[in-house]
Amino acid sequence: MNENLFSKVDHYLSNLFKLEDDILINTEKSIREQGMPEHSVSANQGQFLHLMARLCNARRIVEVGTLGGYSTIWLARALGEDGKLTSIEVDPDYARVARKNIEAAGLTDKVEIITGDALNVLQNLEGENPQIDLFFMDADKPNYVNYFRWALRHSRKGSVILADNVIREGKVLDENSTDEKVKGVREYLEMVSNCSKVTSSVLQQVGLKEYDGLAISVVGDGQ
Ligand code: SAH
Ligand code: DHB
Ligand code: MG
Repeated sequence: MNENLFSKVDHYLSNLFKLEDDILINTEKSIREQGMPEHSVSANQGQFLHLMARLCNARRIVEVGTLGGYSTIWLARALGEDGKLTSIEVDPDYARVARKNIEAAGLTDKVEIITGDALNVLQNLEGENPQIDLFFMDADKPNYVNYFRWALRHSRKGSVILADNVIREGKVLDENSTDEKVKGVREYLEMVSNCSKVTSSVLQQVGLKEYDGLAISVVGDGQ
């Protein structure tokens, strides 16, 4: 298997399904031009996130890690009339770029980008006691377990909790890893696999991005 083939298939599918419009293309362009990390999800992954949000009838979404707002746009486009998405970004410059892209996408009414460390911001949101239909974590891997705990506290039956980058080119196998990101996602998978309140599946992903994976959990009745 070669990565070139995975990328070609990714492009083929993205073109066939006409996944990206000018708004999404310009969002990616802004990220490249500003020299921001190229960590946005791919178009096919974005469409997958969009489907997840549609499938759980998401009206309230929380995202950890906005970057330029690429995944934010995919998710927010799944929201109905009165839907709301809160996305949290620690870097004020990235948040500024994202807000511009959200505005260009006509999603300002539905999307709030909060600048700050996600764990702090979530603690501040605790008072409102929001009920979240879909939670997408895509930053700060060492705190994935804490984001999961927060998401679970604010879930209903059928809420979806997603965690990006949990395979890390197979580095997830290394139980002795000293890489904080690997340790973080291993701890996450351990926690989720032992949690009776959710049913989960981990999707291995190839394509334009490096070999990685998305953990998908749906909240049940629990015990
Ligand atoms: N979800 C985006 C990609 C996010 S990349 C997309 O697919 O389009 C991860 C982002 O999280 C980066 O912009 C980084 O600055 C931000 N980040 C890192 N640590 C964070 C933290 N503790 N709280 C909030 N954001 C954080
Ligand atoms: C990294 C983070 C991401 O969210 C991503 O999609 C790819 C890589 C990283 O921190 O290495
Ligand atoms: Mg990611």
